[in-house]
Amino acid sequence: MEGVIYLDHAATSWPKPPAVGDAMLSALEIAGANPGRGSHRMAVQASRVLFEARKSISNIFGIKNANDIAFGSNTTEALNLAIQGSLREGDHVIATMAEHNSVRRPLEYMRRLRNVEIDYVPVDASGAIDLMQMERMFRSNTRLVVCTHSSNLLGSILPIGEISLLCRKHQAILLVDAAQSAGVIPVNVQQLGIDMLAFPGHKGLLGPQGTGGLYIAPELDIEPLLHGGTGSQSEALEQPKVRPDRYEAGTPNTVGIAGLNAGVKHVLEMTPAFIYQNEWELTQHIMDGLSSVKGIRMLGPEIGQPRTGLVSFTVDGYDSAQLAFRLDRNYGIAVRSGFHCTPLAHESAGTTATGAVRASVGYNSTREHVEVLVKAVLELTGTD
Ligand code: ALA
Repeated sequence: MEGVIYLDHAATSWPKPPAVGDAMLSALEIAGANPGRGSHRMAVQASRVLFEARKSISNIFGIKNANDIAFGSNTTEALNLAIQGSLREGDHVIATMAEHNSVRRPLEYMRRLRNVEIDYVPVDASGAIDLMQMERMFRSNTRLVVCTHSSNLLGSILPIGEISLLCRKHQAILLVDAAQSAGVIPVNVQQLGIDMLAFPGHKGLLGPQGTGGLYIAPELDIEPLLHGGTGSQSEALEQPKVRPDRYEAGTPNTVGIAGLNAGVKHVLEMTPAFIYQNEWELTQHIMDGLSSVKGIRMLGPEIGQPRTGLVSFTVDGYDSAQLAFRLDRNYGIAVRSGFHCTPLAHESAGTTATGAVRASVGYNSTREHVEVLVKAVLELTGTD
């Protein structure tokens, strides 16, 4: 789209690297058959597309066996598979107040369906949790800890390594929601001791929408979310035990996954560490530039502290949705306002009544982009 200053990467990255579209077109043309169903050459070619993408994703997350990755249509599906597949009647779960509805709603569904008990660890204004408070929540029946790697409202980065140690000590499974961190914060599931990692294909990994997946540690046998055709063991009444088939019923999004592979390769070339640094510098520039706005409140970590590439803010006397609307209509700047599907984080930030404007940068964002944003907010709020 001509003339758009796209600052909504936390919702989905845009534009994608050209190689992503090229890979998708090529998959349609030369690998358009059904992977894992049939042995003709084009079906084999389609299977190769999935295989290659699994390998790239293994590289980016330090996954030993690529078959421990189950592709799905988005992070929400991956989180549902992880949560519904691992929780049993009467289990206890610990999550945080930084969680997105894609964690909270399946957890609350499990509360209704399987009498699961849930504790949410409070998050302070900077988006941090108190690990000692979290540790006090463990019980003998705590089966699962779910934690976002980075809040999609506050941008804070949660201490996954330390949480993982708590999970080991208390023999709980650790599920990490990498919706905002995949492709941006270097993640190694082995080193961090992550049992399950849910990731989107369409955000920091630069793939198309409709892609995502779940890493499931080899020793963990969770129940599948979907039951159906896998192209393998067709005579069996139950889902095959073999991975990834066990968790991938139905024809996959081969074309999307081809695009995802190209996106991941782009990220691997740039490196997540480089992308993070660039995004961090841009957020600092935004925060610095907006600090003179009268009545502004920027959420999450203080300036100078680690954060992912987003800055959410409110301005006294200005409606967040109106500000976002004006940024779009008057300046062509795309940001997201409202509640960002994370009411608990808004509760923690004290923005339940107002919502917030969220500007989020990505791999291709520049200093010029954020300078236009800052100037526009200054103008709209009469600060100029
Ligand atoms: N979870 C995405 C966001 O924060 C869609 O905007």
